Amino acid sequence: MSAPVPPPQANMGQPIARLEARAKVTGAARYAADMPVTNPAFAYLVTSTIARGRITGFDESAARAVPGVLEVMTYRNRPPLQPIKHFLEGGSALTGAVALADANVTHEGQIVAMIIAETFEAARDASHRLALRYRRESPAATFGSRGVVVQRTAEVIPMRKDPSLGNADAALKGSAVVHDAEYATPTQHHNAMELYSTTAQWLGDELTIYEPSQFVYGLRAGLAMQLSIPPEKIRIVNDFVGGAFGGKGAVTQRTALVALASRALGRPVKLVATRDQGFTISGHRHETRHRVRLGATREGRFTAYHHDLWELNGRSDAYVNTGIDNSAAMYAFPAVMSTARMVRADRDPPIFMRSPPEVPVMYALESAIDELAFKLAIDPVELRRINDTQKNWVTDKAYTSRSLMPCYDAASAAFGWKNRNPKPGAMRAGDWMVGWGCATATYPTQVSPAVARVRLSADGSARVEIAAHDVGTGAYTVIGQMVAECLALRPAQVAVTIGDSVLPPGPVSGGSVTTASACSAVKLACDQILAKLGIAADAGDKQRAAAFDRLKTGAIEETGNFVPASSESKTTAGLYKGSVDITGGPNAANGAKTMFAFGAEFVEVRIHARTREIRVPRIVGAFAAGRIMNPRTAHSQLMGGMIWGIGSALHEFTEIDVREARYINDNLAEYLVPVNADIRQVDVIMVPEVDNEVNPVGAKGIGELANVGTAAAIANAVFHATGKRIRELPITIDKLIMG
Ligand code: MOS
Repeated sequence: MSAPVPPPQANMGQPIARLEARAKVTGAARYAADMPVTNPAFAYLVTSTIARGRITGFDESAARAVPGVLEVMTYRNRPPLQPIKHFLEGGSALTGAVALADANVTHEGQIVAMIIAETFEAARDASHRLALRYRRESPAATFGSRGVVVQRTAEVIPMRKDPSLGNADAALKGSAVVHDAEYATPTQHHNAMELYSTTAQWLGDELTIYEPSQFVYGLRAGLAMQLSIPPEKIRIVNDFVGGAFGGKGAVTQRTALVALASRALGRPVKLVATRDQGFTISGHRHETRHRVRLGATREGRFTAYHHDLWELNGRSDAYVNTGIDNSAAMYAFPAVMSTARMVRADRDPPIFMRSPPEVPVMYALESAIDELAFKLAIDPVELRRINDTQKNWVTDKAYTSRSLMPCYDAASAAFGWKNRNPKPGAMRAGDWMVGWGCATATYPTQVSPAVARVRLSADGSARVEIAAHDVGTGAYTVIGQMVAECLALRPAQVAVTIGDSVLPPGPVSGGSVTTASACSAVKLACDQILAKLGIAADAGDKQRAAAFDRLKTGAIEETGNFVPASSESKTTAGLYKGSVDITGGPNAANGAKTMFAFGAEFVEVRIHARTREIRVPRIVGAFAAGRIMNPRTAHSQLMGGMIWGIGSALHEFTEIDVREARYINDNLAEYLVPVNADIRQVDVIMVPEVDNEVNPVGAKGIGELANVGTAAAIANAVFHATGKRIRELPITIDKLIMG
């Protein structure tokens, strides 16, 4: 299906093609593992086959006898490593657990050895010949397993308070209509096309790492601490990232091991973890359980919202998403009660993945709203309209802008919602039951400090440098466009360099902050250049050349240090140390308002009356996200988000062997993602919106907006088609046939 290039509307930039498009389609773009190094050795990971217990012995002789094997690294001979802090403790690590620390095994697929050899094949062969003996204990795999430990999240992580408002118990009891149901979402894995890889090269005491990363400064800082060397001695390079989705944001155990091996051998070492190893060495989206209670008046006015959340965790690290602070901000809820709990099991540490809290929490809430609408016999769009709000009721802070209902109106008109027969099972097309459903998409608008260096030459060429990352989203392009726009240049006059820790620090490419943060820093640098030149932003070539002549210089270089008004930080100093400082959404600092982007998604499902085969012939999404920097790349992001959402609803599901706490379908043959044959018509509508308060650029992040709510829209459509409500993702044929 071809994606038309949307013409720009009000408050939208030009839909230019990606700067790196040609390099990518011709194969000229070099990803981290493609970077040439001289005489590399190849590493191969060995991961545990048990989930809980101890290694009682190794027999390395057969592995070491494989021709070309250089080293077998285990906890017994691993050079020293220092621990680093987890993401939620102010660090940037996936886990505080040190790699190859001792004989303990705390999850299936844990790195227990790394083999280094002259060739990849020799290292892999040796990995199969390395004999390990274990003393196995019975693991707890998931919710309900014997041995899990349940904790109140707010007690373990005090900053994750449970949102509450008013007397929600009394409000629920006094409600004319109450909906009360439980929802569940599964384990999912990022599964970017590009595998997890690390290449390390030392030159004296200086280390270069080629690794796909969403956070080169965070990786540099974490690795420096692990190796006890100054961060300035480390350079992290990744010009291109082949998809990340949250799986490449944290420091994982492999990087330091590869660096140590390279130092010990005195030559570069390259590791490309296999697809199945990627399932246990770089995090995942953990499974969640929800109990949602909604109260309303007969007229459909919400009276109370209760949300109880359970998130599955490993034992080693306290990682949670929570997210009820977001869902509680969605509508005019006069009373809110919530509890978040973490459930500790013998599993690898989870991490953020594609709208981490919003996807599960909004699936639960937006399903519950549809169920309540059915009970009330009110159209689900109208129920949301009745409860629309321009403030966050929990914090009593207004939205900077909120175009939820304009999105509903645009998408429902394009979809033809008015032709819907509300009765479940009433719409049919031959052998297919037809269902129409809708739900709200949302994502907190967040921003981070960032530093950008811009150089403008007298001939009108410019260069921008920032250690931001393009994870496939179009960051190169919009950063270049921002320079062109600020300095009245053509995009082709701007060279963009990102993805390298020698550049000024950008933020972690997470939380959909890159565009707003990087472009705000770029704008500052450009404004400083214009001030030095004494010319206006729209000065032409002649005026610019004359200004350079006056100053008797050929080029001006300026660094923009951007710190958001809503940030806890006063300076950009923390960025250089790899600190994460993301602010925004429902609870930004310094009295900031509530900041979110919104959308509305409408889905048609067709379910075969006999086989229950599920198809999604069309989906329409309308989104409002402040300034749209580039309608072409934005269109791709929003379309991609809805396709993720279809995957989340119908395909993506990591199955677990609960006896062994082991992932079963750890490959792309059995871990299903939507492919071309699954995706038919995907329509993206961009609703113009102006918001000058969110950040200096006026842009809201869209990288994680469009896959929020999609699963609920599909579940709601499935109910409309069949009269059957599926409250556990993914929605599969067996669930529709049984029960
Ligand atoms: Mo993204 S899950 O915010 O790295």
